[in-house]
Amino acid sequence: AKGPTPSKDDFLSCLAKDIPPKLLYAKGSPSYSSVLVSTIRNLRYLSFKTVNPVYIVTPTEIAHIKNTVLCGRRYNIRIRVRSGGHDYEGLSYRSESPEPFAIVDLNLMRSVRVDGKSRTAWVESGAQLGDLYYEISKASPKLAFPAGVCPTIGVGGHFSGGGFGMLLRKYGVAADNVIDAKLVDANGKTQDRKSMGEDHFWAIRGGGGESFGIVVSWKVNLLPVPPTVTVFQIPKTLNEGAIDLLTKWQELAPALPDDLMIRVMAQGQKAVFEALYLGTCTTLVPLMKTRFPELAMNASHCNEMPWVQSIAYIHLGKNATVKDILNRTSSIRAFGKYKSDYVSKPIAKPVWETIYRDWFSKPGAGIMIMDPYGATISALNETTTPFPHRKNVLYNIQYITFWFGDGAPSVMPIKWIRDFYAFMEPYVTKNPRQAYVNYRDLDLGVNKVPAGSNVTSYIAGKAWGERYFKGNFEKLAITKGKVDPTDYFRNEQSIPPLLTMV
Ligand code: FDA
Repeated sequence: AKGPTPSKDDFLSCLAKDIPPKLLYAKGSPSYSSVLVSTIRNLRYLSFKTVNPVYIVTPTEIAHIKNTVLCGRRYNIRIRVRSGGHDYEGLSYRSESPEPFAIVDLNLMRSVRVDGKSRTAWVESGAQLGDLYYEISKASPKLAFPAGVCPTIGVGGHFSGGGFGMLLRKYGVAADNVIDAKLVDANGKTQDRKSMGEDHFWAIRGGGGESFGIVVSWKVNLLPVPPTVTVFQIPKTLNEGAIDLLTKWQELAPALPDDLMIRVMAQGQKAVFEALYLGTCTTLVPLMKTRFPELAMNASHCNEMPWVQSIAYIHLGKNATVKDILNRTSSIRAFGKYKSDYVSKPIAKPVWETIYRDWFSKPGAGIMIMDPYGATISALNETTTPFPHRKNVLYNIQYITFWFGDGAPSVMPIKWIRDFYAFMEPYVTKNPRQAYVNYRDLDLGVNKVPAGSNVTSYIAGKAWGERYFKGNFEKLAITKGKVDPTDYFRNEQSIPPLLTMV
């Protein structure tokens, strides 16, 4: 059944009863635009032609979030929640359909409390990964947390979709290491792990943002790292044997000891082999000599440093300081389109030759970033968390194409990435062709609300849902049906409620 007609003015009066006016931004108010664009990372969605929120609420406490949900329910205004704003399709702040919605922007709720003794931390969703990494390193240089490479990513969206970086082989994805959470559910109630129950707690650890409520904070396990780690970055051109190295890397990298992660960035006429090793140069060099002699890695490639410095080094460059990972505006702001794949059988050398010859030389060509799996990330069962890309995965591919300027040349890079993705189909996972939800891609499909219904269709959602979550999609939809049966928290790729007869 349809709810009452949305009422923007009543919604605002309702918010204003309990939330200080300085935390509310109505469309048209002087600071609305600057708050809206503050964490937009994809310039494609800066245009005000996309559907934008009627209000932005920037809560400073959980009661403000509860009130926003209650007012939204009462006056039929949907909410999108934004933490770091890094969603590749901008789903945290824009809508493809013209319905009014408000943003709960968690930018002001970003505390990190580390307890070195119990090796745990509570981190609020509005913190960026850099805040978390920095606070952990202050508590102990021998503790770390396995999450994304880019320090400006928001904790809220990232943990919701899994979240992985250079520690993925040692410790899995971020969501695997979450042990408790506080959220505001679709009824405006505060829940923690115990009160929400294990299915709901399971769903928020990798089932994708938005669907299961607004996660306010997360309790995570911190994990040991040695006081000194080693980073190397070795570029190889085609003339230096990049294709042979890449061909070998595919089976070698997922089988290495879990202390060593070597990822590859392929672009133009070269491949860059970038590694994080949880140890020093003295043991890394002989290990590389035995396992991957063709790369010709030697002591001159070693850069030893504390783990937290490796975050700055890998993402921001060798001159970056640890404090730079706290910078909230450091990320490149570009126009971008992103897609992802998983590979379970090595791609043959002639195919790599075609990729370099025919695809990387085309106008608009982008980058492939390949993260090897194996070790811990692959050891967990597919159903342990909603993130299902485990056993049998050799590596993840992220396809990136981006451009700067006024956005005019967008056709070429977008055509390139779509055509290249079509070309790659025979070489990647099938039935389903898997994709990573945090590399959000609306080309895979969007939610549909069938005529006569007010909730998104589970059947239609399978098109994209089973690619992100494989068999876990059904359990996610059943859980959504239990915790948000009227589908209040909804976006283009939120989990549809599957209402079961009980
Ligand atoms: P944003 O705020 O845009 O939210 C993303 C989604 O989650 C939206 O649907 C939103 O509504 C929802 N959401 C946000 N906060 C929520 C909350 N508190 N409760 C419930 N739902 C919430 N990924 C990766 O795994 N490893 C990596 O190394 C990188 N690197 C990287 C670099 C750059 C420059 C970008 C732009 C992106 C990445 N990513 C990545 C992808 C990243 O993990 C993904 O975009 C995350 O969802 C971003 O989380 P944010 O909170 O920043 O996004």
